[in-house]
Amino acid sequence: MRHLMNPLDFSVEELDRLLDLANDIEKNPEKYAHSCSGKKLATLFYEPSTRTRLSFEAAMLNLGGSVLGFSSADSSSAAKGESVADTIRVISCYADICAMRHPKEGAPLIASMKSRIPVINAGDGGHQHPTQTLTDLLTIRSLKGRLGNFTIGLCGDLKFGRTVHSLIQALIRYPNVSFVLISPEELRIPDNIRDDVLRRNHQQFKEVVRLEDALPELDLLYMTRVQRERFFNEEDYVRMKDFYILDKEKLKLAGPDMMILHPLPRVNEISVEVDDDPRAAYFKQAQYGVYVRMALILTLLGLEGNIC
Ligand code: CP
Repeated sequence: MRHLMNPLDFSVEELDRLLDLANDIEKNPEKYAHSCSGKKLATLFYEPSTRTRLSFEAAMLNLGGSVLGFSSADSSSAAKGESVADTIRVISCYADICAMRHPKEGAPLIASMKSRIPVINAGDGGHQHPTQTLTDLLTIRSLKGRLGNFTIGLCGDLKFGRTVHSLIQALIRYPNVSFVLISPEELRIPDNIRDDVLRRNHQQFKEVVRLEDALPELDLLYMTRVQRERFFNEEDYVRMKDFYILDKEKLKLAGPDMMILHPLPRVNEISVEVDDDPRAAYFKQAQYGVYVRMALILTLLGLEGNIC
């Protein structure tokens, strides 16, 4: 039995197969319409979500399976003090696979240790968000035609943004990826990512504060919101929240093929006037999230080889 806690839980070859499967699902959805018939997905969300929870549920329904779960800690017995370890033991009796989001780093890992079903980390605190990374990789590979040989700018809250932490770890395994880390001083990438991931792997990277300085050299721009829920006080959040706003005027500095990604939700960091720009790929990215989660469910349930 396999779980997914971290994007590195899959080798590059396994990831290639998963992304190939996702592309096939996109092209031939009817082939997969009954492949999870009789299987149940539990979504255990202790933190708010729109895309991750609902795309997991759409993925399982598209595969002919069923879904159950809760969308907030308050509506589960966590509100009465039940531990994650006890909850997953019980959920193992009700479902075949589960996706868990939790505000505490490592909570899905604890669950995986007590589980009798595959557990997928659907985001744990400011730590990791591996299925967002699978979504990002599928989007880049499908729309750019390659993983590697590009310069990517990661912009916004690089301190608390778990999608950025997971994506950097995944991308360093591909050739010739150069990172431009764009953040205010207070929201710089954590030391463990800078030192243990980027420096240790001799990765090309630089840190800048001004988005305008980075835009001309980027093949991809990955915008992120300031993570209000991880701040200790509202005053700091208010000071930081509009530090970056990508608008049409700033986009004039970027190349004609620069792809704009965002894991969403967006707050103010991308002006809505950018949505119609052909370089904006963030809503397509959300659609790719369904295909890749379908591929992931099939893979973790060991059903990917049964499709004719
Ligand atoms: N990208 C993402 O994780 O969105 P949600 O918080 O809406 O799930």
